[in-house]
Amino acid sequence: MRIGMLTGGGDCPGLNAVIRAVVRRGTEHGHEFVGYRNGWRGLLEGTSVPLPLGSTRGLLPRGGTILGTSRTNPYKVDGGESTVLATLAADRIDALLAIGGEDTLGVAHRLAEAGVSVVGVPKTIDNDLSATDFTFGFHTAVQVATDAIDRLHTTAESHDRVMVVEVMGRHAGWIAAYAGLAGGADLVLVPEKPFDISDVCSRIERRHFLGAGYSIVVVAEGSVPIAGTMSLTDAELDEFGHVRLGGIGTVIAREIEARTRFESRVTSLGHVLRGGTPTAFDRVIATRFGLAAIGALDDGEFGTMVALRGTDIVRVPLSDGVAHLKTLDDSFYADAQAFFA
Ligand code: F6P
Repeated sequence: MRIGMLTGGGDCPGLNAVIRAVVRRGTEHGHEFVGYRNGWRGLLEGTSVPLPLGSTRGLLPRGGTILGTSRTNPYKVDGGESTVLATLAADRIDALLAIGGEDTLGVAHRLAEAGVSVVGVPKTIDNDLSATDFTFGFHTAVQVATDAIDRLHTTAESHDRVMVVEVMGRHAGWIAAYAGLAGGADLVLVPEKPFDISDVCSRIERRHFLGAGYSIVVVAEGSVPIAGTMSLTDAELDEFGHVRLGGIGTVIAREIEARTRFESRVTSLGHVLRGGTPTAFDRVIATRFGLAAIGALDDGEFGTMVALRGTDIVRVPLSDGVAHLKTLDDSFYADAQAFFA
């Protein structure tokens, strides 16, 4: 088969490891690969590159995506779907492999319904896709955040400061909760649990009253105050209707300092969490996803995506992959707050 491949949405450590596994296993199976540039935009603009075996050498530890990515949504462009179909026909593509998160897989699902032979590979550092236990990139993001929290501990202690650490996590607080637990954060704020700033401040005051000179607060970027307790400014929307996040940590640090009089600082880790080389764990998931995707393509199981369940890689309908967000469960959230004192 002649297989088109693209990476869409935010980049993520492990994307290149998927590309490598797909091309290596697929070439062995007699397939030929074409990489579309910058996600769905490549199919709208007809920009592609050949992906011979040699193009995948050295890719396993390399961060980012050699194909480039974007948040372009063909269903937000006039005639987008027919342009994509025309590009696939002009390039003689038999099947398409879409590597991305809920938005990219959502487009893949609609194209599958329109008759395109498509298979999906899930990707998100936020780990909020319900169809899969884990995605590659998440473990790397948690490790980077944990390393940062470790470093912030020593400077927070030296200066008797409250350090607010903002991490990615638009709808779900998995990165915040994992890194908060691993790094020993004193308070973790997540999108699933709107916070009361008075409660945040009184918990920090209580901790300091009990003898701690400093506190570490980890905040997921999608965290929101309980309605009516604090005002936030409106932000821009992207093509999938998502708010461009980033900044809640600054607002919280300012409020904490104003209300408690404890000197406070904010560190926003943002895209640092998505950069650089994937951890060994993420390389393993990414490689297994790539191998499994070739299996699905070989078997003609179109309209599916691969997913990790326990230690197995399974195939599930693309519709499942985009149906629900996997939010942080209560018991995990409780554990992430366990050592607050
Ligand atoms: O897709 C995951 C994510 O990491 C979100 O947590 C974050 O809001 C978003 O990407 C930001 O990506 P960008 O700035 O590249 O649009």
